[in-house]
Amino acid sequence: MYALEAKHLYKSYRTRKQTVEVLQDVSLQVRQGEMAAIMGPSGCGKTTLLHSLSGIDRPDSGEIFINGQDLSSYSPEELARFRRRHLGMVFQDFQLLESLTVEENILLPMILDRQDGNAQERQLKKALELAGIGDLRDRGITELSGGQKQRVAIARAFIQEPALIFADEPTGSLDAESADAILRCMAAINRQSKASMLLVTHDAHAASFCHRILSLSGDGLLADKGGRI
Ligand SMILES: Nc1ncnc2c1ncn2[C@@H]1O[C@H](COP(=O)(O)OP(=O)(O)OP(=O)(O)O)[C@@H](O)[C@H]1O
Ligand SMILES: [Mg+2]
Repeated sequence: MYALEAKHLYKSYRTRKQTVEVLQDVSLQVRQGEMAAIMGPSGCGKTTLLHSLSGIDRPDSGEIFINGQDLSSYSPEELARFRRRHLGMVFQDFQLLESLTVEENILLPMILDRQDGNAQERQLKKALELAGIGDLRDRGITELSGGQKQRVAIARAFIQEPALIFADEPTGSLDAESADAILRCMAAINRQSKASMLLVTHDAHAASFCHRILSLSGDGLLADKGGRI
């Protein structure tokens, strides 16, 4: 069974003037424990694809299975719960809540899931350690560097030990040194937790941290370039 399998995805956006066909017959698989990259030119549909695969948005047609479970079989409430429990998300612009502390941001998926306090404390320690930010626990978000913010977002993505973590340009807002540290951190989490990862990037160096690179082209088709590692 694949960690993630998508079959024949189509997705278009309808604006007032026209319909933009973005995904046209995209199929892909991510194996258990695999860290895969999606590359492709700006505007080719990488974010659209990630949003469909992670259940943020629904494709127009096609099927998505996560650990064999058909995403379309869930009601909106079930899908929200499934996403909190089993999927982690990391974004280019971090998407942290500035009114909350580092600790509160990281714990958010567990708080929304009403997990008990002992489990929260145990998972928090693990996530802080894996992300290398134990010393930042009580800080405010505005007191962090970009690289530190992304580590908080990674700890939040990991907090419920999801089967699959999606990352959309996770290093796109960072300088080369911080980007490298974030990629090493993600690769270490992939090795230690066995979470599968699907990472969207423009950057060949970022993709080189992954086991496999998938190329999305302007006409919406994916080509598997095979493993680099
Ligand atoms: N909500 C929307 N309404 C209409 N068109 C959209 C919408 N979102 C994206 N698009 C269009 O769909 C296409 C794909 O956008 P998408 O954001 O998925 O590309 P991308 O590969 O992630 O680009 P980038 O590398 O710049 O982040 C683009 O032509 C974009 O203009
Ligand atoms: Mg994008």
